[in-house]
Amino acid sequence: MSSNVRPVSMERITTPALARNFIEEQMKELRAQIGNRKVLLALSGGVDSSVVAALLVKAVGKQLVCVHVNHGLLRKGEPEQVVKVFRDEMNANLVYVDATERFLSKLEGVSDPEQKRKIIGGEFIRVFEEEARKLDGIEFLAQGTIYPDIVESDGAVKAHHNVGGLPEDLKFELVEPIKLLYKDEVRIVGKELGLPDAMVFCQPFPGPGLGVRCTGAITRDRLEAVRESDAILREEFAKNGLEGKVWQYFTVVPDIKSTGVKDNKRSWDWPVIIRAVNTRDAMTATVENVSFDLLQHITARIVAEVPGVNRVLFDLTPKPTGTIEWE
Ligand code: XMP
Repeated sequence: MSSNVRPVSMERITTPALARNFIEEQMKELRAQIGNRKVLLALSGGVDSSVVAALLVKAVGKQLVCVHVNHGLLRKGEPEQVVKVFRDEMNANLVYVDATERFLSKLEGVSDPEQKRKIIGGEFIRVFEEEARKLDGIEFLAQGTIYPDIVESDGAVKAHHNVGGLPEDLKFELVEPIKLLYKDEVRIVGKELGLPDAMVFCQPFPGPGLGVRCTGAITRDRLEAVRESDAILREEFAKNGLEGKVWQYFTVVPDIKSTGVKDNKRSWDWPVIIRAVNTRDAMTATVENVSFDLLQHITARIVAEVPGVNRVLFDLTPKPTGTIEWE
């Protein structure tokens, strides 16, 4: 699959049978391209890189080396899920790098959102590069590029979706098995490959992760408040039939405090902001009409279970004027 243009004759993958055909074809193409050589993949655990990993494990097994960089800004349970699915269940060759300390110390005291993004993106490439240099005989780099990435960027590949910033001397041939697929097709293929629903139907998650939801300078305790409140929100949305229905939902913990009362004592703690939006293309977005009862239940859980939090707010702002993320 060398062309970057989707042939008009290419049927849209809408059924498990069509997904199986695609998988069969890819097995042949990947084996022909790779032979007995080695492939490297940055596996974030998002749907695109997970589908690429599963295809390659099926096609070339241990010739694939997956590198999962935990930058400390992932959602609760994400790194564990990557290890469980790929190393334990698929028996993939997985290098797990816990780079949490490294990222958080680089980010210490940095409050500008763009600066935070630059540090996270740059550090990610450096960690990946270090791992790539430790490995011998790698000739290919696999990427989870999908068709909208090609169309939107006119041939170039989107930042954060790739490791395109690797230095010149680390030259790899690219392997991009899903580059002609749309997102809905990637999900059907992922399901057919046996990936769990939590991976296949996961909502969009920004490259800088929870880092842009812990506004201003990130501190470890406030980052934990983001992670724990997000986990409660996801659990409650799943229980109440909103998972897969609402396009994107998450919590933000801003760098402000307010007075409250907790355990009969005055408290000086953070608020948690809930954001739940629907959109087609992320250029504009509307706010999900979440039931008041559910919001009250989630509020009760968050203030009871998340240390350092005394209030919960719901963001009623569409895009425009608010962006989806807070930073
Ligand atoms: P905004 O906040 O711009 O977000 O309305 C639109 C969509 O893009 C995601 N987003 C990002 N994704 N790196 C990413 O990979 C980023 O720096 C980034 N910033 C925002 C956001 O989650 C939403 O889906």
